[in-house]
Amino acid sequence: MADNNRDVVILKHGEMSAELELQHGTVGPQGIDITPLFQKTGLFTYDPGFVSTASCRSAISYIDGDQGILRYRGYPIEQLAERSTFLEVAYLLLNGELPTQAQLEGFVSDVTHHTMLNQSLLKFYNGFHHNAHPMAVMVGVVGSLSAFYHDSLYIHNPEHRALSGLRMIAKMPTIAAAAYKHNIGEPVMYPQNHLSYAANFLHMMFATPCEPYERSPLAEEALDLLLILHADHEQNASTSTVRMAGSSGANPFACVAAGIAALWGPAHGGANEAVLDMLEEIGDVRHIDKYIAKAKGKDDPFRLMGFGHRIYKNYDPRAKIIRKMCHEVLHELASDDDPLFELALRLEEIASRDEYFLERKLYPNVDFYSGIIYRALGIPRNMFTVLFAIARTVGWVAHWMEMMADPKHRISRPRQVYHGADRRDYVPITERS
Ligand code: SDX
Repeated sequence: MADNNRDVVILKHGEMSAELELQHGTVGPQGIDITPLFQKTGLFTYDPGFVSTASCRSAISYIDGDQGILRYRGYPIEQLAERSTFLEVAYLLLNGELPTQAQLEGFVSDVTHHTMLNQSLLKFYNGFHHNAHPMAVMVGVVGSLSAFYHDSLYIHNPEHRALSGLRMIAKMPTIAAAAYKHNIGEPVMYPQNHLSYAANFLHMMFATPCEPYERSPLAEEALDLLLILHADHEQNASTSTVRMAGSSGANPFACVAAGIAALWGPAHGGANEAVLDMLEEIGDVRHIDKYIAKAKGKDDPFRLMGFGHRIYKNYDPRAKIIRKMCHEVLHELASDDDPLFELALRLEEIASRDEYFLERKLYPNVDFYSGIIYRALGIPRNMFTVLFAIARTVGWVAHWMEMMADPKHRISRPRQVYHGADRRDYVPITERS
């Protein structure tokens, strides 16, 4: 409702009436600015899981869940997937515009020349048992980076923020590959500056000092595309965690470590690993109906991993691109009749006809097919979410920088509706029953 030319909504409850301004964006839902709500009405909003809450204004990614739209800085994900590279997309997400040739070359060189780790950092890996989950290693090692880079921790200096962000984006593949090498007892492979970001990661994962490593160009292309698709996704759980940690003034390395921890959950980035576990548990097309029934069971915690999304009530556009790439990668790199891929296709086909899934608009999400490709690239399952973290570090850094550059940003401090005991006096233990 407009009121003397201001675009406001008026909240009424009994005698109470409060005017709240509308926050307008470029596209998508507007937001009711409830900042003054408590002071005006003594009321909170109540929105567990933030289903209807915009936590900030952002210009980085835009999602339309009903239309299945994802754009990075206004560019459709389908066009970036088709025509861009991960580091070009990283530049776009960080800076807001596609780079010129010179800007891209400079950025690629900066990233390339920050990929090495401090030698002392490599000693951390020896503290982990050989079978430590790589995500646990990532949380620990990334969180420790602030112990090494004191020269870029003054978060109010934009140059420090940019240098810390660059270091994280550059070092994540090296940290990740070193975690894998620790798992398998092989020596860490150092980054090679002549290789692309994706090729360098494959080199650090699979090369050994004993012989030259021949990697497939398709594997490099497939990995680069997966990194693009996972780079950012608005205010998802892990990005919101990074923003929350950053709002207290924590250093960027600690913020990204918090994001990695949040991403690990099977309801979020951990789903890609859980999808493969689920497909292996289903095992055969004949068992699909039993598992679909389990997924629908109210009392059964089992869910179809890789299905459903808080925002997409249509097909996740990233899942469409990955499913198409599965055929190409499996045809060239694995065997076309990968039983788990066949099973995934049949599972999607059956679920797509089931009323329960249709009614709840549950479609495959980014995690449903990605594991099939990672597997075909020889990436072990416990590294799937690590790959997600490598890509999403760009989004985490972009959101952290966007928040830190806002002079009005303040510490995030949600409130609650308290439903515990009212005031009561202490009871001596001798008088308790
Ligand atoms: C990612 O936020 C992001 O953007 C995340 C992400 C990103 O790029 O950052 O896109 C990446 O995390 C993708 C999601 C990966 N997670 C999974 O695949 C795990 C399986 N999916 C579900 O756990 C679930 O769909 C969520 C967590 C993704 C979404 O949960 P919501 O929005 O809280 O939905 P919900 O739990 O309220 O479900 C609504 C209904 C419920 O049934 P009813 O109570 O209405 O009867 O749908 C059912 C749920 O039981 N449901 C499922 C289901 N997902 C939801 N039933 C069976 N299988 C599923 N997968």
